[in-house]
Amino acid sequence: MKFNQITPEILAAFEAIVGSANLITARHVEADVYAGYGRDHTEDLHFAPDVVLKPGSTEEVSQIMRLCHEHHIPVTARGAGTGLSGGALPIHNGLVLSMERFNKIIQIDERNLQATVEPGVVTEAFQNAVKEVGLFYPPDPASKGSCFLGGNLSQSSGGPKAVKYGTTKDYVLNLQVVLPTGEVIWTGANTLKNATGYNLTQLMVGSEGTLGIITRVVFRLLPYPQQNILMLVPFRQEAQAAEAVSAVFRAGIIPSGMEFMEREAIAWSSNYLNIPLTLPEDITAHLLIELDGQDLDQLYKEAEQVYAVLETYDVGEILLADTAAQKDDLWRIRRNIGNSVRYNSVYKEEDTVVPRAELPTLLKGVKEIGARYGFKSVCYGHAGDGNLHVNIIRGELDDEMWNVGLRQPISEIFELCVKLGGTISGEHGIGLVQKPFISIALKEANLNLMRGIKQVFDPHGILNPGKIF
Ligand code: LAC
Ligand code: ZN
Repeated sequence: MKFNQITPEILAAFEAIVGSANLITARHVEADVYAGYGRDHTEDLHFAPDVVLKPGSTEEVSQIMRLCHEHHIPVTARGAGTGLSGGALPIHNGLVLSMERFNKIIQIDERNLQATVEPGVVTEAFQNAVKEVGLFYPPDPASKGSCFLGGNLSQSSGGPKAVKYGTTKDYVLNLQVVLPTGEVIWTGANTLKNATGYNLTQLMVGSEGTLGIITRVVFRLLPYPQQNILMLVPFRQEAQAAEAVSAVFRAGIIPSGMEFMEREAIAWSSNYLNIPLTLPEDITAHLLIELDGQDLDQLYKEAEQVYAVLETYDVGEILLADTAAQKDDLWRIRRNIGNSVRYNSVYKEEDTVVPRAELPTLLKGVKEIGARYGFKSVCYGHAGDGNLHVNIIRGELDDEMWNVGLRQPISEIFELCVKLGGTISGEHGIGLVQKPFISIALKEANLNLMRGIKQVFDPHGILNPGKIF
């Protein structure tokens, strides 16, 4: 693809659309604020945009897209920049379209258990707003306190609750989208069922900003589960922790959280947060198991069934969180593992996912590959979903190994995922950093279908160029 520069005339046209307060270039703001728009949470990568626009309405986005389409200018839409695959990085420079001003919850429809929101609403703020009226929006990525719903849609984000409630895709009913030509469409209807042509709504979810710009969303909601039980289960053998995961489901229980944490993951995070945690020497991994529902007695019965399963493994003393504060601490420890790993070392995160019962084989394989190539990994993640975040720690690895040498072992990890019936990303997307590996997961025929779809939506290839494939 050949792109054009943003000329002074085009810049003036942008300014006329969004107003001078919402157009920034390197000259307008402090260098680090500006640089922030060229980063996300992926490794230490940075690409400088030529200009950042902060549109305030669908009509403004439409006008911007029309101009960029006409002049072949790359457009990288951006949420809060918490992505882990480089999806928001403007690798061809051009325009960064920050959706930060799309921050309104437009309507919470209590009659239909639905809500209409803009994509720049912070996920947790949305959860809190619907909770106030007794409703529940389950998807809860670790970054929920700062990430945007629009980013969650772009990456098809998950989180701990996905194991019982599904990911972002399971709550989207309808999307308002600005196409690269500037045309504005709604992808579906505000209904729980829809058998009307191709499912453009789900096509947009996970498309990583390559097909259109989401400007409004209709989500479905659930009644808020008022009760929960949370337990932290220490294991002496990591492999057994992984095995116990599918055993719990086989016993007929669907937890609302089933998280795996290696010893180092939980130790680093509790240190990072300064939350004291007793960690006996012989403990190598933990499961954090949450049960939720409306009836506490029922949950205690389920907890007994979980205990019965766990008793068949070599577990230490199970911690049953008995106050809201203790539960909050445990979840904070879990959610901050990524941050604590980042704090300890430069790292690469692989978002591996396999069918749940294959998790023990995946974990063993990851460690074997690490031992063979001489790298250390800290593993944790959504074990109930078979979704293991493998954090490869930079440690003493030299530049050559870090930049080039790791390609081979990462490929081997992904090949193992695919062999086990899984794939190379469960919830972080492909973006930039997983792009070199996509052919491990997808055949050329699949990729050609995707390229064809891209061509139909975005014939000039201006939307988030250089991502996915
Ligand atoms: C988590 C993010 C990294 O699960 O997906 O913590
Ligand atoms: Zn995760």
